[in-house]
Amino acid sequence: MSVRRTAPAAVQPKEFAFTAENLAWAKAQMAKFPEGRQASAVIPLMWRAQEQHHGWLPEAAIRYVADMLGMEHIRAMEVATFYTMFLLQPVGKKAHIQVCGTTPCRLRGADDLFEVCKHRIAHDPFEVSADGNFSWEEVECLGACVNAPMALIWKDTYEDLTAESFEKIIDGFAAGNPPKPGPQNGRQFSAPEGGPTTLTDPAVYAAQSKAAAPQNTGPALTDSDAKKPSVTASNREAPEPKAPLSKAGADKKPKPN
Ligand code: FES
Repeated sequence: MSVRRTAPAAVQPKEFAFTAENLAWAKAQMAKFPEGRQASAVIPLMWRAQEQHHGWLPEAAIRYVADMLGMEHIRAMEVATFYTMFLLQPVGKKAHIQVCGTTPCRLRGADDLFEVCKHRIAHDPFEVSADGNFSWEEVECLGACVNAPMALIWKDTYEDLTAESFEKIIDGFAAGNPPKPGPQNGRQFSAPEGGPTTLTDPAVYAAQSKAAAPQNTGPALTDSDAKKPSVTASNREAPEPKAPLSKAGADKKPKPN
């Protein structure tokens, strides 16, 4: 289960401030919200603060963002401690790995991934590896259950993992060459493993492409067509006047063809 605790005082910086570039960006985000609603920018601003501060969000940064947005510190702290996207303790320089430990991922082999974390990185969550490059934690469902088990590294998800493929991903980050995110077993997104099992009849797609083909809307315009004056309400020719019906004719019913 994910544990949401701020880092010990010994590692908390006393102060935090955005760089000039990040400050300008933050002000632009705040301006997107109506006057008096600037607190709505709390998530993007704290995320930017986290990116600026070596991948984790210290208490000083939470207070700094709250002050910018006119919020009580505790309100910003509530947001930071709720979402696991905010990392409240120092993390590895190359990767902080968030392994999903909720039921579907557990049933599909998440325990193997935790074992890999323990022997490749460190025994405990948020314990930074000896070389300072990696850390890990268990988090709750990250919404990719159909591709269980999975892990989130920074902004990317790695799915359909096994212990072997997970180790390769860690190797990739260690070498500075992260692998492509997404399913690691060759399947396309969340499509069935081994390829589609329904709608496999090519005739379905032939009918679809026929329906999507451009309709014949008449002969294409030529240069001379383009030069012709267009018909408007003011220059449209008046229709031929119809001969008035005689009283007798008006009574006649049309003959069937
Ligand atoms: S249970 Fe792991 S992503 Fe949902």
